[in-house]
Amino acid sequence: MRSGIAGSVLALMMAFGSVAPVWGAGDGIALEHVLTDVSNIPSLQRGARNFVNYCMGCHSAQYVRYNRLAKDLQISDEQLIASLMFTGGKPHDTMQVAMPAADAERWFGAPPPDLSLIARSRGADYLYTFLRSFYVDDSRPTGFNNLVLESAAMPNVLWQLQGTQRAVFAEGDHGAVFEGFEPVTAGSMSAEEFDQFVSDLVNFLGYIGEPAQLQRRQVGIWVLIFLLVFGLLSWALKREIWRDIK
Ligand code: HEC
Repeated sequence: MRSGIAGSVLALMMAFGSVAPVWGAGDGIALEHVLTDVSNIPSLQRGARNFVNYCMGCHSAQYVRYNRLAKDLQISDEQLIASLMFTGGKPHDTMQVAMPAADAERWFGAPPPDLSLIARSRGADYLYTFLRSFYVDDSRPTGFNNLVLESAAMPNVLWQLQGTQRAVFAEGDHGAVFEGFEPVTAGSMSAEEFDQFVSDLVNFLGYIGEPAQLQRRQVGIWVLIFLLVFGLLSWALKREIWRDIK
């Protein structure tokens, strides 16, 4: 309903030319929508594991402390050390990366950005689309290009899971128009498993963008319950006071 109204308003505004459709950073490419849920703790736990295993070789999350993560994600200290902390730090450390930024820049041509706030600057749909949009391109030094981040310096780090794909472009009036992906080699995961893997990862990136949101939501529920009880009490009190006056 709400999105229906928002959609109509947007359509109206577009009809009057006040806004142009914006697809975010991926120019002209419609982003794929992902449903994330930061109250889904098992999904956040899987996302944390995926992040540590596949992203932290290059990216840090310098605003996130391991012990905060463990508490929010309901992970014990033993689990934390055994499955998330490979670099042998201490639980109150932040998620730093071993690779010096200068080296990373020399190797890749662009420094891998810190990912603590990336979900807030790019949005979940962008991240979901970006991570699933690497395609074979022999003209690139990594052998891959990315549909939403043209000439991305980031290698296709998930190719063994996803498999590799080719992008099909058609000639349009304004240059090449993306038509779809075609699989080249199969990965170790099915398409559904890979989508789940990426959405857990994006869910986790959304959580680290604002770790307090878990508490904020819980507090919000108590505030609503309080308001309801308080409202009922006030109403009963008002009835009591005005009873004889009518
Ligand atoms: C081998 C090193 C490496 C690994 C591993 C890696 N990345 Fe990257 N990543 C990079 C580099 C380099 C860039 C900068 C790309 C550029 O600016 O062209 C980057 C950029 C990004 C960006 C920013 C894209 C943008 O729009 O600017 C995101 C988001 C990202 N990586 C997510 C991830 C995630 C999630 C993982 C784990 C699945 C991951 N990366 C693993 C090297 C890496």
